[in-house]
Amino acid sequence: MKVTVVGAGSVGATCADVLAQKDFAKEVVLLDIKENYAEGKALDIWESSAVNYYDTRVNGSTNDYTKTKDSDVIVITSGIPRKPGMSRDDLISTNAKIVKSVTAQVVEHSPEAIIIVVSNPLDVMTYAAYLTAKKPRTKVFGMAGVLDTARFRAFLANELDVSPKDIQALLLGGHGDTMVPLPRFTTIAGIPVTDLLDNDRIDAIVERTKKGGGEIVNLLGTSGWYAPGAAAAQMVEAILKDSKRIFPVCTMLEGEYGMNNIALGVPVKLGKDGIEEVIELKLNDEEMKLMKESAEHVKSVMEVLDKMDLF
Ligand code: 2OP
Repeated sequence: MKVTVVGAGSVGATCADVLAQKDFAKEVVLLDIKENYAEGKALDIWESSAVNYYDTRVNGSTNDYTKTKDSDVIVITSGIPRKPGMSRDDLISTNAKIVKSVTAQVVEHSPEAIIIVVSNPLDVMTYAAYLTAKKPRTKVFGMAGVLDTARFRAFLANELDVSPKDIQALLLGGHGDTMVPLPRFTTIAGIPVTDLLDNDRIDAIVERTKKGGGEIVNLLGTSGWYAPGAAAAQMVEAILKDSKRIFPVCTMLEGEYGMNNIALGVPVKLGKDGIEEVIELKLNDEEMKLMKESAEHVKSVMEVLDKMDLF
């Protein structure tokens, strides 16, 4: 099994490192346009193999897409990250061109590969990759919900002083401040979170989750990478191990939740064929209202993409 990670910045390199440590792929190829950068990161990761005890080969390349040939899964992390004061949407004019170009090149060398988009603004970049790749939606989708629910679970674990492993959570909508964490579908070892915390505490944690990416940007001056890289690697693992895991994933909707022609986060089943099922939850009125608001926001960013005339 071969995985390519395009973009050897912090998110891409973390994803490659986590994948290597999971030790199920034969090879991870890391690619970057910056001269020698991917080679250096890949070599540094590979030099940890004897200590971290894995066999997965990690190879880097400066933009030589022939090295990505016949990948099973490709993770696209290319693009610029945001700085304090920026929203993910501010990145669109730069990142849309990059994501289009990267997607076209990876598809040329690995026509059968499943593509996971990580670049921001996530939902619209997923849409851009989907348009470029000309593959079914089951094979081109975006990572955001795994990260956003991971943040939600981490905050709940702190609040309740429990293991994050025991927390299950769901989340819908775009990867932005309009995302919709779903307390009604969140449990701690099967116990509804709504039985354990009062509404005010839950609301505060939901708000912190929605702005979780921005919290890191404010602390670091750039966006996070450990959690985003690990989240992308978890999706790769579910696909390559055919584990049928249920994750919130950004996918093109085809009538689900009453929506069409939009990339949005919803729960799906991930296996060897990519998205094997899109799960439609029975939402209550309030949840549906929030989902629609999030969709409206994503649509407004899609319109910016449309105006760029790239497709
Ligand atoms: C985040 O939420 C980078 O969008 C990513 O941290």
